[in-house]
Amino acid sequence: MNFHIVVLAGDGIGPEICEESKKVLNRVGEVFGHKFEYEPQDAGGIAIDKYDTPLPDHTLKACQAADAVLKAPMGGPKWDKIENKKRPEAGILGLRKGLDLYANLRPVRLFNALKQASTLKPEVIDGVDMLIARELISGIYFGEPRGIHGEGKDRYGVNTEIYRAPEVERIVGLAFELAKLRRKKVTSVDKFNVLESSRLWHDVAEEVSKKHPDVAFEHQIVDNAAMQLILQPRQFDVLVTTNMFGDILSDEASMLTGSLGMLPSASLGGKVGLYEPSHGSAPDIAGTGKANPLAMILSVAMMLQYSFKLLKEAEAVEKAVEKVLNDGFRTADLAKKGEKAVSCREMGDAVVKEIR
Ligand code: IPM
Ligand code: MN
Repeated sequence: MNFHIVVLAGDGIGPEICEESKKVLNRVGEVFGHKFEYEPQDAGGIAIDKYDTPLPDHTLKACQAADAVLKAPMGGPKWDKIENKKRPEAGILGLRKGLDLYANLRPVRLFNALKQASTLKPEVIDGVDMLIARELISGIYFGEPRGIHGEGKDRYGVNTEIYRAPEVERIVGLAFELAKLRRKKVTSVDKFNVLESSRLWHDVAEEVSKKHPDVAFEHQIVDNAAMQLILQPRQFDVLVTTNMFGDILSDEASMLTGSLGMLPSASLGGKVGLYEPSHGSAPDIAGTGKANPLAMILSVAMMLQYSFKLLKEAEAVEKAVEKVLNDGFRTADLAKKGEKAVSCREMGDAVVKEIR
């Protein structure tokens, strides 16, 4: 089969990990007889430099017409002084909104070989396998009014956390459907004891849960959830939560896998899915070969699974990653003191070699 993929190579380590991910896809194409065509487009910092906007219209249009979007991290200190509306991050939010990607799935799975790589005790993280379902196009990231107003001492900044019932219903409903393919447990995370937007979330989640009596359901308040994640991470199967809580908790949860460099993501909801690593553009190590391409390579596996329904192919990529980790390949973020670290390219090559 033929697939048309828009590639946003991003900033910082983006282009490097993107190269390795395309190599892996090409290898999948060779072995399984598919053709992946890539259409490079600009978004994020590089688009600001070229077009004075982080998300040019032609980029969004190309993404909307693609079979899937492969996106690398964007942003960096170079664009830090720009007002929020024009920052690289605004381009990312525009993409998510423009593609109607209300569901961000971040699977948090510990590869056995990385049990020692985490700062957490191996016996705590052993067997961790959860899915974070983060609402992605509402909440405080998009709520109005927003802005910075006033002068001098009177200045103030405003953001608005808002959730509408249908927005909660669709992401929580999806969490239940996904739980049915897993261990059949959903934990909904909010702050209903303080925030009205969370009270609404809480009540709607409760209503949705009644439609799925075959799936275990519980609520957790976000501060407790943050603690439970490192106290007893195996208790979680599907964790569903708001845009901002999901942003924060998924970075925390990434350490259960050994490194933020291991956490892939799929953003779904509209016609075209978008696949990106959960980590940032790490400008401090850009160009040094130290980047870990595995989160983006695992995002490619999610693309194969969710957008192209190529389950065997997705599994082949995951198995290849598992094999190279078992064989001892470690990028700098995964290597223990004294262990040899391979470069981004060497890691990509090793994965490619294992896809047969
Ligand atoms: C993420 C990132 C983004 C977010 C930023 C870069 C806009 O942190 O995907 O988790 O906050 O959603
Ligand atoms: Mn984040």
